[in-house]
Parts: sequence; C-alpha cells; structure tokens
Amino acid sequence: MTAATILSGKEISAEIRAQIASETVQLSKQGVTPGLAVVLVGDDPASHVYVRNKEKACQDLGYYSEVHRLSADSSQDEVLALVDKLNAQPSVHGILVQLPLPKHINEKAVIDAISVLKDVDGFHPVNVGNLVIGDDSLLPCTPAGVIEMIKRTGIEISGKHAVVIGRSNIVGKPVSLLLQREHATVTMCHSRTVNMAELARQADILVVAIGRANMIDERYIKPGAVVIDVGMNRLPNGKLAGDVDFERAKAVSGPITPVPGGVGPMTITMLMQNTLIAAKRLNGLV
Ligand code: GUN
Repeated sequence: MTAATILSGKEISAEIRAQIASETVQLSKQGVTPGLAVVLVGDDPASHVYVRNKEKACQDLGYYSEVHRLSADSSQDEVLALVDKLNAQPSVHGILVQLPLPKHINEKAVIDAISVLKDVDGFHPVNVGNLVIGDDSLLPCTPAGVIEMIKRTGIEISGKHAVVIGRSNIVGKPVSLLLQREHATVTMCHSRTVNMAELARQADILVVAIGRANMIDERYIKPGAVVIDVGMNRLPNGKLAGDVDFERAKAVSGPITPVPGGVGPMTITMLMQNTLIAAKRLNGLV
C-alpha cells in the first residue's frame, strides 16, 4: 500500500491567509481595516497562549486588534459591560470571548450578549440556528476549518459516508451539519455509542473530536478513508496528542491530519476569515 497523504493545516492555512491578506489590502483602500477584539478573563495558561496567537495573526494580516485581559475576579457585569462597549465600537468587527470563563461567570449570558453580526466564533444561538437551517452565518471556526481543509485538498464530500465521533456544541454537532450541507451522509458517534469501531469502519470520511488522546487506531478505519483529527490533548510528558493514534491510523488510512499542524492552524485562519466577512458585512460591502 502507498503511504498515506499527510493533510497539512499549516500549508492550507498559509494559502488561505495569503488570500485574506490581499483582500484586506483591497478593503483598506475602501477605508475599512478589519478589527478583532479578544476578551480574556483569568490566568489559564493555555488560554493566554491561544490569545497571543490570535493577536499575532491579526498583526501579520494588518488587522486592527485589541486584547482585553481581565483579572480572574472580574464580575459578570464587568464582562457584559465590556461586550456592550465592543458591540457599539465601529473599529471592532469581530468579538471573541476566550473560553473557558471563570466559574462565577455564566458563559451563556456572555455569548448571548455578543452582537450576532460580530460573533466571529459562531457561538451565538442565532448563528447556530442559521447554521442548522442553512442560512448565511458566521460559522464556528474549527468546524469551518475542517470542511475547508477537505475541500481544498480536492476530496469530494458529496455522496460520501462521513462518521463524526463526538457531539460537542463547538465541534461535533456543527461539523456534522456542515458535512450534511456538503451532501454527505452523516453518522454521529459519541461516548454511549455501541460498536463504535464497526460504525467508524464504514466511514469514507472520519472526523474525530472526542477529547481522548490516541483513542482511534486502525480498528476504526476503513482502508483509504480520510481521517481528520480535531483532538488536542496534553499528555503527562507535556507533548500534544490528537484523538487519533497517528502512526497506527496512517498505516491503513487515506489522507490524514497530524497533531500538531493539522486542524489546529486552520482554526485561527477561519477566525481571521470570519473577521474579514464581518467587516465587509458591517460596512455594507457584501
Ligand atoms: N477556547 C478554546 N477554543 C475556543 C474557541 O474556539 N473560541 C473561544 N472563544 N474560546 C475557545
């Protein structure tokens, strides 16, 4: 058997970011600079790294960016007041509140407060509803990145059997909706699924977002199937591992994403794309 193709999120991201950069130059000529505001509450080290990466992506693309780092003991009212201010600020087209929030703050109340037009995470219930009924909306970044990767690699989705492992609101559910929108037949698996390996082995496209390091191996994969690993698990030795056991899986799979360097880079790229779309819409340019 020939070796499996590695789907590089880094390379595909670079391609998309080059397109975004040139669109940004065009937009600037019309007097609009895409602007992203990120709100980070507390001291979670991983969240601080993610937020720095988002800030850097903005700088690289010539976006306006502001980051609000609030102390862990900030009240829900303070966070809501900041969101309100950003909703009304014309230089800001996208608002992202980094999750998780400290326990005393109600995440749902904060997400619900973000303007639907500036919700570049695609987490607001109105945007989730739009996704369900297939209306234009800001799509959640990781699921949109998964679809973009598959499409840009030239893999046909229409008519294929896709199996999604994991049913979270931020990955599993929206990925399954987007795959259906692309005309795949979709099966959802989750922690209570019986015979998961048997179902997964029927997939032409297998998307894994279950949050358990290296759980999926060759027993879950049909020879030649596309395997997309959304997992990001920190091992006790500090290394990052996906939900898929890459070495064992790639012995039988078709095109497969590594971790790191697979879906991860696509998430920020789609965030940048959403911010550009929001900037255009808010200025009546689409
Ligand atoms: N924390 C981990 N992933 C995400 C994400 O995609 N968006 C937000 N807002 N917070 C996160």
